[in-house]
Amino acid sequence: MCGIVGYYGKRNVPEVVLNGLKTLEYRGYDSSGMAFAGKNGLSIIKSVGKIKELEEKFKNNPINGTVGIGHSRWATHGVPSEVNAHPHIDCKNKIAVVHNGIIENFMELKNELIAKGHKFVSDTDTEVIVHLIEDNYTDNFEEAFKKSVPLLRGAFAIAVICADCPDTIFFARMKSPLVIGIGRGETFLASDVVAFLDYAREVVYIDNGQLGFIKKGKISMFDFDGNPIKYKTSMVLWDAEMAKKNGYKYFMLKEIYEQPECLAKTINGTIRNNDFYLPNFNIPVEHLKKIRRISIVACGTAYHAGFLGKYFIEELAKLPVDIDVASEFIYREPIISDDTLFIAISQSGETADTKEAVVKARKFGVKTVAVTNVVGSSITREVDGVIYTNAGFEKGVAATKSFTTQVLVMYVIALYLAKIREMISEETLLEYISELSSISQKIEIILQHKNIENIKMIARMYQNCRDFLFLGRNVNYPLALEGALKLKEISYIHAEGYAAGEMKHGPIALIDENCPVVVIMTKSKLYEKVISNVKEVAARKGLVIGIASEGDDTAKTVVKNLIKIPDASPYVSAILSVIPLQLLSYYIADVRGCDIDQPRNLAKSVTVE
Ligand code: F6R
Repeated sequence: MCGIVGYYGKRNVPEVVLNGLKTLEYRGYDSSGMAFAGKNGLSIIKSVGKIKELEEKFKNNPINGTVGIGHSRWATHGVPSEVNAHPHIDCKNKIAVVHNGIIENFMELKNELIAKGHKFVSDTDTEVIVHLIEDNYTDNFEEAFKKSVPLLRGAFAIAVICADCPDTIFFARMKSPLVIGIGRGETFLASDVVAFLDYAREVVYIDNGQLGFIKKGKISMFDFDGNPIKYKTSMVLWDAEMAKKNGYKYFMLKEIYEQPECLAKTINGTIRNNDFYLPNFNIPVEHLKKIRRISIVACGTAYHAGFLGKYFIEELAKLPVDIDVASEFIYREPIISDDTLFIAISQSGETADTKEAVVKARKFGVKTVAVTNVVGSSITREVDGVIYTNAGFEKGVAATKSFTTQVLVMYVIALYLAKIREMISEETLLEYISELSSISQKIEIILQHKNIENIKMIARMYQNCRDFLFLGRNVNYPLALEGALKLKEISYIHAEGYAAGEMKHGPIALIDENCPVVVIMTKSKLYEKVISNVKEVAARKGLVIGIASEGDDTAKTVVKNLIKIPDASPYVSAILSVIPLQLLSYYIADVRGCDIDQPRNLAKSVTVE
């Protein structure tokens, strides 16, 4: 979703802002703009479409300044257009603002400001911020900013510059992420650390209810009542290389190939010396022993990882698990007793609905845990404990390595609870733990050239199909949902995931000789039943693409196309089976010529409700 960049320092200011915007392209956007303040006052440039169009425009009209802010906009209030693109400016063309989030009381403020004579030009909620500051500005801009921010309601991360103080960037945060990067003699502001990873690793995470300014590189921070705040710096461990494609056509492909390494890191971050190693989990064992229910909440792909977690925890730890999509959870009336452990899963740690779900769960007095990939993300500040997925920076909009590492963490949680609740023997536990060390190698096998060529061939065969079905039972059911989601989001082919046993209750009506049906049919206790489902599809001329375990001789007799994965326990198989699903979606989207890293209408992290 929208991205913010700000810069003060010795480098070419427009170049740094533009590069930052390019790095944030993965977040999803439809228009962009930059503003600079310097000796010639305020200058602005905006464009609809890709950042390269903004860059082209900038080449023909090179503006500059001593401080700069930039923005990539994902439209919420008002269509994507130059007028609605940020930065927005005040009536006197002195102040510029960029904003992520939604100002909920913008209509009320707008009406008051219009009554006072302010002229609005856009349909956005953001424009109200700049007129509000203008209205409060007489001679001290800092005071005007401090007075204006607390009047805003909703979610916002904002950056502001003013022609009267061309060495300062003002900022404020409420619910939308914002971070400061400290380099040598230069300071950055961004909605995401990757915007400045090339230049700075020391960061200050701005918290909700904080505002401040960066004046000649010096940071001052206050709460919304104007009280000064001491800020803490921390170091980002992510490498700038992670934000580069390294020869892969798309980030998504690079990230698929990174999975063996990411999973190895996640294992190392959760299990050491054959025992659990959960340094930030923070929930005492005594408390966990009293837990009688688990509630899991997440969105999209993370929800599918949570759904797998339900199967794992119920089967291994014998605890009942509720699973909800966050946007539903926050507006229904869940019944949560205080012996529940609440788990929120979010790659970014910034998804608005998931964060709200944690806030809601806390009201029931339960312990909360986040499974996230981003150290310092908002969700980590809302929960009692965290388990990091260690997938590294994920730039592809379609989640891949974050999913497999989330599934792994859910498996580790299930095993941990099983151990604490004495539902698993020491011997079986060690067997499962030791199997984890083979995951990376098994994924490497799936990624071997001959297997990739097989998947590419299947992708070419079915690239023009209008609809796909994905089927699976038990742990393979959430995978069917994930396979369908991946395909629709990057290739725009309609796809549905179903529990294979549900097929005869409706979806079977869709099956004909034009409908590919991807069946995850790895060895499991329900294997025979899945084979029956495959036969039902085949009998109606459906085109079955099977994902089956190595050594399964039955599978090849009943399916049209077969993708083999190495044999493993059903838990580890769930991690392995998703790799061909990711690859199949990727190659179908690629042959269809889709922009895989920037699928239409999608944003990497959905920071508004
Ligand atoms: C799908 C995808 C989304 C995210 C969802 C949650 O490929 O990426 O469905 O999984 O928006 O995002 P996080 O995990 O950041 O909360």
